[in-house]
Amino acid sequence: AITVDPKAKGAKIDDTMYGVFFEDINRAADGGLYAELVQNRSFEYSTADNRSYTPLTSWTVTGTGRTADDDGRLNERNRTYLSLGAGSSVTNSGYNTGISVERGKKYDFSVWARVDGRTRLTLTLTDSEGELAKARKVTARGGWAKYEATFTASRTSTTGRVTVATDQAAALDMVSLFPRDTFKGRENGLREDLAEKIDALDPGFVRFPGGCLVNTGSMEDYSAESNWERKRSYQWKDTIGPVEERATNANFWGYNQSYGLGYYEYFQFAEDIGAMPLPVVPALVTGCGQNRATDDEELLQRHIQDTLDLIEFANGPVTSEWGRKRAQMGHPKPFGLTHLGVGNEENLPVEFFARFEKFRAAIEAEYPEITVISNSGPDDSGTTFDTAWGLNREADVDMVDEHYYNSPQWFLQNNDRYDSYDRSGPKVFLGEYASQGNAFKNALSEAAFMTGLERNADIVKLASYAPLLANEDYVQWSPDMIWFNNHASWGSANYETQKLFMTNVGDRVVPSTATSTPSVSGPISGAVGLSTWATTAAYDDVKVTGEDGTTLLSDDFSGDAAQWTHTGGGSWTVQDGQYVQTDEAAENTMVSAGDTSWTNYDLSVKATKKSGK
Ligand code: AHR
Repeated sequence: AITVDPKAKGAKIDDTMYGVFFEDINRAADGGLYAELVQNRSFEYSTADNRSYTPLTSWTVTGTGRTADDDGRLNERNRTYLSLGAGSSVTNSGYNTGISVERGKKYDFSVWARVDGRTRLTLTLTDSEGELAKARKVTARGGWAKYEATFTASRTSTTGRVTVATDQAAALDMVSLFPRDTFKGRENGLREDLAEKIDALDPGFVRFPGGCLVNTGSMEDYSAESNWERKRSYQWKDTIGPVEERATNANFWGYNQSYGLGYYEYFQFAEDIGAMPLPVVPALVTGCGQNRATDDEELLQRHIQDTLDLIEFANGPVTSEWGRKRAQMGHPKPFGLTHLGVGNEENLPVEFFARFEKFRAAIEAEYPEITVISNSGPDDSGTTFDTAWGLNREADVDMVDEHYYNSPQWFLQNNDRYDSYDRSGPKVFLGEYASQGNAFKNALSEAAFMTGLERNADIVKLASYAPLLANEDYVQWSPDMIWFNNHASWGSANYETQKLFMTNVGDRVVPSTATSTPSVSGPISGAVGLSTWATTAAYDDVKVTGEDGTTLLSDDFSGDAAQWTHTGGGSWTVQDGQYVQTDEAAENTMVSAGDTSWTNYDLSVKATKKSGK
């Protein structure tokens, strides 16, 4: 029986409890959420991003053409361009199988060109079967200028190519093709199906832009002087303003990131889906296997100032320096930033914390209303985690970002993880978690775990599954919540779990107790009522016993299979005071709370962990 006292007031659950964590991993941005259809649009791909890259990756030149990075460039941050000879053309192959277009839909094309005199540019959209839209022509004249045209797709295709041909020699850069239909119709906007799937989760917050890519790589500014030093930590100032003036970066995950999806777009997206924006800035310590801490005080101060400027960009009046930039980009109203993370998963807790304290002091002095979030290092298993938590507690930090990726067993066994957290200490932001897989059992174990998060909503304030997105042809990390290619997207089983919780956030926990149902103790604690499962590695013995202690069913988990799923159940009766199985349980089938034949006998399930395994 489940006893619920509706009058008892459990923890309040914030509307922001469940959110999403967007990181540009698995091509989540370019070739993903960012709706741009042209890959390597500004010819900036380089071997520094990925050994296989050149400035012409995803491009084919017909005739004569070469890329250059010289004084003739478009601007200091968009350096490489293509010099195309007279009568030549260049074709882009997009992402996955190509450029995906839908019959009847409009696509906005643009290109920056520089010519001596004038030339005619012919723009075509084709696939192997021929034309996908009527070709367009524009006349380019003189110095760098942007030329635009619109295609209307006459057929649906997932293998399209866009080509620019020139009559006379011309320099080209920023060749772009955008679907007219972006999420909420935003210019430079987001791919509709992906943004809609995220929106359908009704997220309370959006954590961005990472992850490891935030704080790994050089901390240097992206400037002409540091000339092209690739793999910089993610610096928000690189990502705003006109897209053709934004830097590109060598993403930690092994590809080039365009920053077309930048801080303005993140804030706008969060606002569009009614979620709290939660940016994370680098803390001058690199985690994710690159354990380095920068001692350059000047650099540290610049990053701290950048963070203050970020808050001004988000919240400042239009009369302020950075508030004005936000307004110029189209959003005079503040974005209402309230929470900000400093650092991500640092392996050097002491070094991190010394720097975090400086960020926090500077932010609190100017913006005391902002919640500054610290973190607990890479996982929950070692001294890094304990040291980090110790430092965070001592310093009375508001909130600590925890991350863990574990087996489904772990999630089932740790439902009570937060029951014992110190209520007087920092609150928890579970910024990244996932059980290792996209199968139903993973989604189920996460659901079971999330009941524990919710029960502890007084201390666990925010939680986000990770990672959010993966392009099926460019995977660096799996499992992921939402998968896609160039024309389709689909939510995983884990997505459905998140959606269930995120779209049904209660106001308060109603304390409850359960008795007289089959209960599970030991390593598979909490699993009954959903289904139970175990692995040969962890358990040698699962027993079902009657109330008198009689063993009704046991499984020693010997055999070849790595896992058994126990969802069904045999039937039992009492004869002459003994439990007798009247209907044999199917192979690998043991007990489920939904099986009424069990409930008559007040059964219990016991699981014991085999020592030494
Ligand atoms: O979510 C994938 C990665 O996992 C993140 O970049 C990092 O923070 C964690 O290690």
